[in-house]
Amino acid sequence: MDLTRREPIEAGETIRVGILGCGRIADLQCLGYLEHPRAEIRAVCDLDEALARRRAQEWGVPQVYTELERMLDEAAIDVVEILTPHHLHATHATAALRAGKHVSLQKPPTRTLGELDRLTEAAAAAGCVLRVFENFMFYPPHVKARELIDAGAIGEPLSIRLKTAAGRFGDGWEITPQTQAWRMNPATCGGGATTFDHGYHCFNMARFFMPEELERVHAFVHWTQLGSDQRIDGPALVSWKYAGDVPRYGSWEVIASLGMRVRSDYYASDDRLELHGSEGILWVNRCTGKLLDEPPVVLYRDGETRAFHDLACDWAESFRLGGIDFVDALLAGRTPAQSPGEARQTLAVALAVARSASEAREVTLAEILEERSAG
Ligand SMILES: NC(=O)c1ccc[n+]([C@@H]2O[C@H](COP(=O)([O-])OP(=O)(O)OC[C@H]3O[C@@H](n4cnc5c(N)ncnc54)[C@H](O)[C@@H]3O)[C@@H](O)[C@H]2O)c1
Repeated sequence: MDLTRREPIEAGETIRVGILGCGRIADLQCLGYLEHPRAEIRAVCDLDEALARRRAQEWGVPQVYTELERMLDEAAIDVVEILTPHHLHATHATAALRAGKHVSLQKPPTRTLGELDRLTEAAAAAGCVLRVFENFMFYPPHVKARELIDAGAIGEPLSIRLKTAAGRFGDGWEITPQTQAWRMNPATCGGGATTFDHGYHCFNMARFFMPEELERVHAFVHWTQLGSDQRIDGPALVSWKYAGDVPRYGSWEVIASLGMRVRSDYYASDDRLELHGSEGILWVNRCTGKLLDEPPVVLYRDGETRAFHDLACDWAESFRLGGIDFVDALLAGRTPAQSPGEARQTLAVALAVARSASEAREVTLAEILEERSAG
């Protein structure tokens, strides 16, 4: 296909969106586009025509496709929201960018840094925006914690500890065997379903809250057999050191408590984190699920503990707000979070973790990034 260069968005325009992939996460990814007064879901596309038609009916969408190329040729859209399995992200995003569409790409953006670099170049050549969507950075308790840190509430951030508690199967969202299959297969997922796919969120949080980039990582990852033909990468324990003269460390632990009920309207898993600073401590006590009946954000400082209760803490909020932010950014001509450069850093951490676990050694981020520069 010839390259179509994108014209700037005119004042007063509506952002017309085509959604590619109408599976599990489309339930939440639609929220911002449905709500924003200057956005409209104009087309949907999925290999599964019945699913695409069902989504079109739910969302009041006029055009339904089963092939991306046809949607790109025929639908009057400005943006393609890509919600397909990871091994297809690079191909799908390249096609959309070459057709002159802005792209919102779910995390992890690609399986390799090379794939992401080629997408970044394709976006620049087409004059299009490429944003990588990582929803934890829009989750209101995380945003509140970040505001508190920026305001000096814990002094200088020194350490972050993240925990993911996975509970028994069958609670929470229904996941189809097809979705489960591509996620559990490292070739289609890009790595482990836990440490690469979910890990992208946690490594992004490790970067979101701290003033320096990660410098070196170490990971223990146990692969647990599930039935006769699937394996999952957990439990896992990852630790890292940040760059800079101040000694700063972080860690992420994933525990599979397969007999434990995790209350959740989404995945049967929850995430929480603890941030220590030079003068205080912050906790974010929930994210994907509703595991602990605790205030979403708690601050300790000067002998006093303060709880922040009045925060929108349903996980869906992070998708809704992330969608609205993307549309606002396109309309305002600003770079939306997360830029490809930011995504590259987080992806490099996920790749370093995989290498550390497989080679049983500490891995530097420089090693991963320099390898890519070398080819
Ligand atoms: N931010 C988050 O927390 C979060 C959570 C879940 C999923 N995701 C991301 O969203 C994306 C989709 O995940 P999911 O769980 O919804 O997967 P899913 O398997 O439920 O949905 C994927 C859909 O893509 C369709 N599809 C596959 N190939 C296609 C093609 N060539 N053309 C058109 N449609 C095609 C499938 O038919 C399916 O309906 C992934 O990148 C995943 O990592 C993010």
